[in-house]
Amino acid sequence: MKKILMVTPEFFDVEYAINPYMTSNDGQLHKIDRLKAQSQWNELKNAYSKLEYAVDVLPGVKGLPDMVFAANQSFPFWDHKKEQPSVIISSMRSEFRKNEVSYFEKYYAENKYTIYTLERSGQAFEGNGDALIRPGRKQIFGGYGFRTDKNVYNEIQRITNYEIFLLELKNEHFYHLDTCLSFLDENTIAIVTEAFTADDLRSLKNKFANIIEIDIDEAKNNFAGNCHCPDGKNVILQSGSEKLIKSLHAHGFKTIEVDTSEFMKSGGSVFCMKMMCY
Ligand code: ARG
Repeated sequence: MKKILMVTPEFFDVEYAINPYMTSNDGQLHKIDRLKAQSQWNELKNAYSKLEYAVDVLPGVKGLPDMVFAANQSFPFWDHKKEQPSVIISSMRSEFRKNEVSYFEKYYAENKYTIYTLERSGQAFEGNGDALIRPGRKQIFGGYGFRTDKNVYNEIQRITNYEIFLLELKNEHFYHLDTCLSFLDENTIAIVTEAFTADDLRSLKNKFANIIEIDIDEAKNNFAGNCHCPDGKNVILQSGSEKLIKSLHAHGFKTIEVDTSEFMKSGGSVFCMKMMCY
């Protein structure tokens, strides 16, 4: 995967609360500093450009304040039989976000992807927020419980022909799998252990030679679990994630810190703000 897709943040805002991060302790919706959000978004885009990824940009749409979280509306994968890029279009859990997906579908059509939809299943699926591909393998790790329904993975298995490993999410602070599990390379993951059931944790430990544990407070306050390693070497993450940065360095990864504080007010950081595609 050599391409990054992002959505411009001019209409990004917190207009409703669909996860616990979007309100302050007194229940008020967070206020966004638009200028700051724009410069943080530019900084993230530059981080990918510096790693030599081409960044495609879709314009944000008025009235769709969460569209900037480009990880959720789709799930691109490689079809190994047809040898071509394919994508499953998400079926968003929240009514507020349902209209975002058509803009992505159009992008994939223009880029000649084979497009699959989940219309008939009637199940929720929030794309690459919950379904993560293990680098170098035909394996999907599928989070479910908050935004994605468990049974949708039967259809995803049929469409992709990938092996599926289900992971149940129970802690609302880790409502998408990408908030608590990050693939660093084929055999290394970073996880928030508290986000998983004992059974799921055991099966993760059996599958991966290297597991980096993310401190739960760093994951909640700093979205450390939402880091992104696009190439098996460099990890882009929210600045100040000191504990994770130390562990990543100890495992030989390089780190690139960016500030996504405005986007964290909506419950997302680096991984959520982009889609990796072909
Ligand atoms: N406000 C957005 C929502 O709750 C944030 C999405 C974050 N994306 C992610 N992949 N975790 O839907």
